[in-house]
Amino acid sequence: MTVTALGLPTVNRGGPAEPAPASGPLIDTYGRVATDLRVSLTDRCNLRCTYCMPAEGLDWLPGQALLTADELARLLRIAVTRLGVTSVRFTGGEPLVTRHLEDVVAAAAALTPRPEITLTTNGIGLQRRAAGLRQAGLDRINVSLDSVDAAHFARITRRDRLADVLAGLAAAKAAGLQPVKVNAVLDPVSGLDDVVDLLRYCLEHGYQLRIIEQMPLDAGHSWKRDAVIDADRILQTLRQHFDLQPDPRPRGSAPAELWQVGPGATHPGGTVGVIASVSHAFCSACDRTRLTADGQIRSCLFSTEETDLRGLLRAGADDAAIEAAWRGAMWAKPAGHGINDPSFVQPQRPMSAIGG
Ligand code: 5AD
Ligand code: SF4
Repeated sequence: MTVTALGLPTVNRGGPAEPAPASGPLIDTYGRVATDLRVSLTDRCNLRCTYCMPAEGLDWLPGQALLTADELARLLRIAVTRLGVTSVRFTGGEPLVTRHLEDVVAAAAALTPRPEITLTTNGIGLQRRAAGLRQAGLDRINVSLDSVDAAHFARITRRDRLADVLAGLAAAKAAGLQPVKVNAVLDPVSGLDDVVDLLRYCLEHGYQLRIIEQMPLDAGHSWKRDAVIDADRILQTLRQHFDLQPDPRPRGSAPAELWQVGPGATHPGGTVGVIASVSHAFCSACDRTRLTADGQIRSCLFSTEETDLRGLLRAGADDAAIEAAWRGAMWAKPAGHGINDPSFVQPQRPMSAIGG
């Protein structure tokens, strides 16, 4: 048995040179099984977070390049009924800018076995749509929010929309999309101040904060490892204000390391998670497969290769052919992102065109 740099044993049944298994779970050559599908519905967004997009936006994918609601419904059915996918997360860009989001959620909810259905959104427009999304079958939601200071928020996202996001969060909670999670990427300038106020705000409102180390997925390719506020610094800062105890529950493939906030806090019993995607990569436990808005399968956020399902769909391929292509894409999944290797190459697509 070969052991890779990540300590992952390769599966004895074969390596990338051999074909992917034709049935069973969606497995790769390291033995990881993908059950969590991330679907990007659009590369467009109404914010311009500095770590994601340039101020002027990007060249958006043309309309005919995007999968239609019917094409998405078909791929979701293949994923759930033939490939063993058990949870589906819709992302973007910003998924709420697509009009067919509710239809696609309903299509996923109609599948047997019904997958868990979640959404990652920046929260703008959520106030109006949270109840309808819940009704369509959405189970839970993650709202991206990096600061509860209006001036900091406007600097980070280049838009003065904090109030919309906070209203969206409240609507999600009222609609029963619980637990409501808040995803934060810390700004190199104000992040260590922001995170303290963010956690206080989340504890007060019963939202679960998860802080994500910034990864090299910015459109400008200007990410620098030294600028990343890492998990150790985040925890060190939070400990100056909160009593944090390790959460005893098993972590499984969940990337967040969870902490319970102790009795001194405004909302005892709350938790906070830190996702150390850069400083403590969790690639060995990865259970994800990704579909971009233009119908490409990526086995990893950092893949440099993609498998074109849209072309197959539009050429009239049957379900078995699409299933086989998807299995092949995942079979070739690399061991890890290699961010910390000298030879690391950032993928061409930025986060907004892949889906977080
Ligand atoms: N590194 C880490 N997280 C990122 N996100 C966007 N860009 C990055 C990055 N470079 C997060 C957003 C959102 C989710 C889709 O991914 O904040 O919560
Ligand atoms: Fe939009 Fe999300 Fe990128 Fe911010 S991080 S610009 S909210 S896609």
